[in-house]
Amino acid sequence: MKKNRRLVQFAVVCASETLIADYLDILSKDNTIQNICYEVTKRHALDERSHSGVFSHVALEVLKNESKETRTLFINTLKSTVPLFAHTEMKEWEKIFGILNFPNYQEILRDTDTLKNIGIYDNSVNKLLLRLGAM
Ligand SMILES: [Fe+2]
Repeated sequence: MKKNRRLVQFAVVCASETLIADYLDILSKDNTIQNICYEVTKRHALDERSHSGVFSHVALEVLKNESKETRTLFINTLKSTVPLFAHTEMKEWEKIFGILNFPNYQEILRDTDTLKNIGIYDNSVNKLLLRLGAM
C-alpha cells in the first residue's frame, strides 16, 4: 500500500536525520581530529541540529491521529533502522576493494574488523520513541 510505503520511508528518514545529528554533535566537540575536519563537522552539526527536530515533530503530528497499526509500523521501522547505521558492510567492502585491487585492502579490512564495538548515538531516536509511547 502506498501510504505504508511512504510511512516506512519517512521512518527511515527520521532515524537517519536524528542519528546523524546526534553523531555529528558528539564529533563536533572532539577537537582531537584534524582542524579542517573539525571545522567542517562543526558546521555540518549546526546544520543538522537546525532541522533534525523538525522530523521528530512532524512524525508526532502525523502519527497522533493514526491507527495503532500505522503507529506500530512506524515504530518498528524506526527501531529496525537504527542498527543499520552501525553495520560495517565489511563483506561488501571486501568485494569492492578486491575488484579495485586496492593496495593493502586485506590489512585495512583486518584492522577495521577489530573495531567491532561501534557506538550508535541514539538519544534523539529514543526520545522520539518515548514520545510515541514505544519505550
Ligand atoms: Fe539532515
